[in-house]
Amino acid sequence: LHVSSKCISDHHLLLRRGFASEASPDRKVTVLGAAGGIGQPLALLMKLNPLVSRLALYDIAGTPGVAADVSHINTRSQVAGYVGEEQLGQALEGSDVVIIPAGVPRKPGMTRDDLFNINAGIVKSLSAAIAKYCPNALVNMISNPVNSTVPIAAEVFKKAGTYDEKKLFGVTTLDVVRAKTFYAGKAKAPVAEVNVPVVGGHAGITILPLFSQATPKANLPEDEIKALTKRTQDGGTEVVEAKAGKGSATLSMAYAGAIFADACLKGLNGVPDVIECSFVQSNVTDLPFFASKVRLGKNGVEEVLGLGPLSEYEKQGLESLLPELKASIEKGIKFANQS
Ligand code: NAD
Ligand code: LMR
Repeated sequence: LHVSSKCISDHHLLLRRGFASEASPDRKVTVLGAAGGIGQPLALLMKLNPLVSRLALYDIAGTPGVAADVSHINTRSQVAGYVGEEQLGQALEGSDVVIIPAGVPRKPGMTRDDLFNINAGIVKSLSAAIAKYCPNALVNMISNPVNSTVPIAAEVFKKAGTYDEKKLFGVTTLDVVRAKTFYAGKAKAPVAEVNVPVVGGHAGITILPLFSQATPKANLPEDEIKALTKRTQDGGTEVVEAKAGKGSATLSMAYAGAIFADACLKGLNGVPDVIECSFVQSNVTDLPFFASKVRLGKNGVEEVLGLGPLSEYEKQGLESLLPELKASIEKGIKFANQS
């Protein structure tokens, strides 16, 4: 008995060693806009992720300090800070996942589309650099308006001949995070067990949470579902107003961005059944991009999942969001193809 249990424990150790090296290949993650309100806590959360072996922090200013600070944390990844356009190439080279929270945030009274004039140009130039230095990376677009910045990146990649629709993601995870939190409160369900798909896009009514598919089931009355839907759609504005001119969601966004990047890394590493909602190239509707559940794999998007059964209220919500989402997508495509 003694011998056999030793054998088992040796075997266990070997398996665990094998597991450690096989499950944790070298993975470089780059954050563009790493010194910002989202970028800093996101850098912290990515430093805590054991799947990351190299963490590159890029911004137009301030990254040496952020990188020095984060690099002292005793976790796996090697951290490097890059500042200014001349260091962008180095920040991107060899990257597996590029997360983009670069750009200006909203102030009270603004829509996400009001950010277009500044952020579209930022995203266009960062996407051109990605096409040049790490064309195979998975791109996690956080910069707003996501409904337009994702199409901009796609057009830039197409022009560069590097576009792979499986590798471009608009990060809508914060909508899911909010829907889960708000639903758990109303349904009196343990929040860690709650799941709610959120589809459409990432702005106002284009954010469509599917509470009819929420689990655990709670059979909430229609007026509560409507209130939950509205709160999820206006979640960003709730934070913008509470911050009263000091920006938009940063901490909850960093959390959501870290969840989504982790899902991408798990997919790349071959973990099965990794599913998150994301705004991707899609055949789910007639629009070229749409957020829905996506299965992540070794090449990025493995499968774009359908909508599933919708309630009447959700069917109406879907109909109403399509024109706005279409216009935002077209605006991005048009901008990217100018000049
Ligand atoms: P912030 O102003 O605090 O930080 C933005 C950072 O981007 C700054 O450090 C700035 O120097 C940097 N930057 C600007 N131009 C750059 C460039 N060309 N290259 C690299 N970095 C550049 O803003 P924030 O609060 O971190 O928000 C960033 C963006 O994320 C905004 O557009 C905001 O609307 C968006 N956002 C999206 C979601 C979402 O759910 N997808 C949630 C929250 C915020
Ligand atoms: C959010 O949903 O919090 C972000 O898109 C930021 C914003 O402007 O609302």
